[in-house]
Amino acid sequence: MAIIEVKNLIKTFKDGDKETRVLKGLNFLAEHGEWIAIMGRSGAGKSTFMYQMSLLDEPTSGEIFIDSHDAHNMTPDDKTNFRLNQLGYVFQDYALIPDLTALENVLVPIMMQGEDKVSAHTKAKSALERVGLGHRLNNLPSQLSGGEQQRTSIARALAHDPKILFADEPTANLDNESSKTVMKLFEEVHKQGQTIVMVTHEEEYSRLAERVVTLDDGQIIKDEKTHKTPHKHS
Ligand SMILES: Nc1ncnc2c1ncn2[C@@H]1O[C@H](COP(=O)(O)OP(=O)(O)O)[C@@H](O)[C@H]1O
Ligand SMILES: [Mg+2]
Repeated sequence: MAIIEVKNLIKTFKDGDKETRVLKGLNFLAEHGEWIAIMGRSGAGKSTFMYQMSLLDEPTSGEIFIDSHDAHNMTPDDKTNFRLNQLGYVFQDYALIPDLTALENVLVPIMMQGEDKVSAHTKAKSALERVGLGHRLNNLPSQLSGGEQQRTSIARALAHDPKILFADEPTANLDNESSKTVMKLFEEVHKQGQTIVMVTHEEEYSRLAERVVTLDDGQIIKDEKTHKTPHKHS
């Protein structure tokens, strides 16, 4: 069974009397272990699409199945728990807590899942080591470069071994070199079997994925495999 299935997804935003239909009936499947890039011009609906399928927002209508759960049958609490325990998120602005160190930023969501401090600490530290930041554990976000902040947010997203990693333009605020480092990390975790759904503007990075889904004006206008052969899991 697909890890994500979206059927006839519609999202309308209301602003007073004005209604804007941003997603106009999307159908989409993602398989376990797949790396999918979502492309399209600014305003096409990419972020809105990602927010609905990753349970960060409530669609106007349509169906979403994620890891065999029907989103319609989940209470708001179920969704919060599912996001915390099973999904990982990376945003273009890193979304780190400025008063917490890199280690604490990664540790807090693990502790919110009920893990004790010692084992949360071990997990957080090893997640930061995995992204090459073992030497930056006690730095505040303001003491880290943009690339290091984004790698911290990736460590936070991966620390609990999520079923799916969602990323919305993870390299949008990064220079070329940091962007490449971040994309290398995505390649590595994907090789280890991580399912990834990544919104990006960059052709160069979308080509790293196995599939590119292109949105325009709230509709999927293209859904193509790239030349990349899917990674075989042992
Ligand atoms: N909360 C919101 N309220 C009203 N309109 C919104 C909201 N979020 C997004 N939109 C509109 O939906 C459209 C798609 O936005 P978005 O999904 O952010 O596009 P993309 O990520 O492709 O640039 C845009 O026209 C945007 O203005
Ligand atoms: Mg966006």
